[in-house]
Amino acid sequence: MSIQAQITGWGAYVPQRIVTNDDLSKIVDTNDEWIVSRTGISERHFASEEESTASLATEAALQALQVAGLNPVELDLVIVASSSPEHFFPATACLVQDRIGANKAGAYDLLAACSGFVFALDVAAQAIRSGSIRSAVVIGAETLTRFLDWTDRNTCVLFGDGAGAFVLQASDQPGGVLASAIHSDGSGGELLILPSPGSRHPMNIQALEARLQYVQMNGREVFRFATRALGQVVQESIAKAGLKLEDIQWIIPHQANMRILEAAAKNLKVPMDRFVINVDRYGNTSTASIPIAVVEAVQDGRIRPGDKVVFVGFGAGLTWGAVTAQWSGPLAPPRRHAPTPKLIRLLAGLRSGLLRLLRRLDAVVWGRMQNWGQKGPPGDDYLP
Ligand SMILES: CC(C)(COP(=O)(O)OP(=O)(O)OC[C@H]1O[C@@H](n2cnc3c(N)ncnc32)[C@H](O)[C@@H]1OP(=O)(O)O)[C@@H](O)C(=O)NCCC(=O)NCCS
Repeated sequence: MSIQAQITGWGAYVPQRIVTNDDLSKIVDTNDEWIVSRTGISERHFASEEESTASLATEAALQALQVAGLNPVELDLVIVASSSPEHFFPATACLVQDRIGANKAGAYDLLAACSGFVFALDVAAQAIRSGSIRSAVVIGAETLTRFLDWTDRNTCVLFGDGAGAFVLQASDQPGGVLASAIHSDGSGGELLILPSPGSRHPMNIQALEARLQYVQMNGREVFRFATRALGQVVQESIAKAGLKLEDIQWIIPHQANMRILEAAAKNLKVPMDRFVINVDRYGNTSTASIPIAVVEAVQDGRIRPGDKVVFVGFGAGLTWGAVTAQWSGPLAPPRRHAPTPKLIRLLAGLRSGLLRLLRRLDAVVWGRMQNWGQKGPPGDDYLP
């Protein structure tokens, strides 16, 4: 029997602060009627000053692990897909790995913009099915509102912050991730871009004056691309799974814009009520949007074990991809004395603090302290 990659846990976390279209109309020349009619978005969540991409990702991952009943020390892999990572490096995934106490897991970030969650799901599932690992947590996490130009009404009304995560585990049971299809077209790279900082445009006064540190978008071209790509890649991944569109109970798309989803549904000839949609309440949360939508649909009973589902993403790159899966659930019934997310956070924090202390003591003992002393930037919390 071949090894399957089952989705055994799921979690989502959105910051508390809700920002409505009316709130935005106080800072930029826009209005609720325009935003709702062109995008379907009514409100979105903004991360607080204390929150960051790694902290949102950690909350979503801990919830997903709890649903799966999986102890973080058993995890083999942590992937964070993000368009707004904590830093260039270290990878956000490494910070999450430390905060959840996934001691033996490898961790890395994956950048495929809004398609990132689907791309990450594809690689994690392949690693499990190949037998190379037994478990993974795949996270989409964003604080994109930190990279928006609040003088550009074309972009700043579209995005929101949040995180979502799936746990994947090896199993002999049929189901889980069935097939995937991913694509890229770098010739459209400039259509949706965050130019600086980067090798091409390092952070300097010229870059700042040109406002290159903010998301830039050609909305019309992205719209055209997205409506075509979505339907094509959904069909492709369903066909690779040996299924037909009629076999699929739910399509869970990247929540970019209601009009894109309506156009794609029309192309596919699938009624809108087979799409899971929540863009009205969260805006475009990039890599986080698919798992946040899935968690809501599982919690309210729409997605049930056995359902065949398609996750479909599209975005900057250009990138687009879809994963067809059979929804399952935890491999084992919940453990009575499973550690809570709070306890895991506490123990992981103690372990991390101890490791830092030991590293410092070792440096003192062996006379390497002259190289130490470099502090992270203000507000950074990975130096105690
Ligand atoms: C961004 C988007 C909503 C704009 O809608 P559109 O119908 O293409 O609008 P246009 O760009 O043609 O602009 C129409 C007018 O609305 C104005 N406008 C743009 N943003 C506005 C806003 N937030 N509030 C009010 N007016 C706005 C424009 O300035 C333009 O005015 P003008 O005719 O006086 O120049 C649409 O192109 C879109 O959804 N694109 C895809 C974006 C996306 O999902 N990106 C992420 C993919 S992962």
